[in-house]
Amino acid sequence: MLNKKTVDDLKVSGKNVLVRCDFNVPIQDGAITSDARIVGALPTIKKLIADGGRVILCSHLGQPKEVDPAFSLAPVAKRLGELLDKLVVFAADDTVVGDNARQAVSGMKDGDVVLLENTRFRKEETKNGEAFSKDLASLADIYVDDAFGSSHRAHCSTVGVTQFVKESAVGYLMQKEIEYLGNAVNNPVRPFVAILGGAKVSDKINVINNLLEKVDTLIIGGGMAYTFLKAMGHGVGDSLLEADKVEYSKQMMGKAKEKGVKLLLPIDTVVSDKFSNDSNFKTVESSKIEDGWMGVDIGEKTRELFAAAIKDAKTVIWNGPMGVFEMENFNKGTIAVAQAMADIDGMSVIGGGDSAAAVIQLGFADKMSHISTGGGASLEFLEGIVLPGVAAVEDRA
Ligand code: 3PG
Repeated sequence: MLNKKTVDDLKVSGKNVLVRCDFNVPIQDGAITSDARIVGALPTIKKLIADGGRVILCSHLGQPKEVDPAFSLAPVAKRLGELLDKLVVFAADDTVVGDNARQAVSGMKDGDVVLLENTRFRKEETKNGEAFSKDLASLADIYVDDAFGSSHRAHCSTVGVTQFVKESAVGYLMQKEIEYLGNAVNNPVRPFVAILGGAKVSDKINVINNLLEKVDTLIIGGGMAYTFLKAMGHGVGDSLLEADKVEYSKQMMGKAKEKGVKLLLPIDTVVSDKFSNDSNFKTVESSKIEDGWMGVDIGEKTRELFAAAIKDAKTVIWNGPMGVFEMENFNKGTIAVAQAMADIDGMSVIGGGDSAAAVIQLGFADKMSHISTGGGASLEFLEGIVLPGVAAVEDRA
């Protein structure tokens, strides 16, 4: 049970409530290409509106170095208004908390919604500077953090602001993320299987190390598997390889043995002669990848091996695709793992980032117990790190 004050503990009627969301959504040519993070924030926003709060939303978008209209949150205000079927006033303000924002906020009635401009338009944001934290806090009586995806960042809008408001709480999305990820990692119903993929071992060093302390089975696929295959003494042809992580991979194989964790690696691999869907490709044993060929997906025998390991699990957590799932010829491994997870009689948790995108794109979203909206944040959670954005929120009395 999460020991933090939540929106259910608040009395918000007639009060200004500043809500930090993670509206860092993908935008192409001014259009939002996935609104999953906006949809994820709706339960908290709707609850605060229903309870008569004056809802002031804030978020970052992208990594702008200065005020840049390409990073404005205006498209988010529009999409949020459509989803809520309600006017969302966008406070276009280059200083985020400037005259426009103050005017918009002072005109609010109970149940109104205002969205502030991109918090990263203020340079102090990422430095957790006091002036901007105070500016944000000056708009509100209460602060709600619902930005799980940003909770690994100790910034003004996620951490600093909490020092200057009277009351703080976590939102429903934050609560759900922490409960699902937390239960999966720290209190799993066993057998507990973790599946790791994605390009690099170096992105997941501490995740592998931490999960080996907790899981019954660790499955490794995707680009990172080739460094492990190399550590087993195999050639990997032109596949992704982090030569400086081969030794680490050996150590992790040793740790798995020591801890009695079953470590599964690909036994066969789909190899391609170029990084393109339009290429020559074939399936080979993972110990026989030749020069001129690169691994792009797990092979059929591996799909069966991984699916069999997932089948009887009661808790499965997955981070990172099994192959180049964006290319149709190489998405079968990722589909097989998604299907195996969808079929289990237990808890299936997708740890954000590319695997969340894959599960949504491949049509398995409604089959999973939980899909995290966090990328870096869910990885740090899996590493066992206390997220600063969560720590900063008031504990429940
Ligand atoms: C994310 O997309 O992972 C979060 O919104 C955090 O974004 P950042 O890496 O730019 O801080």
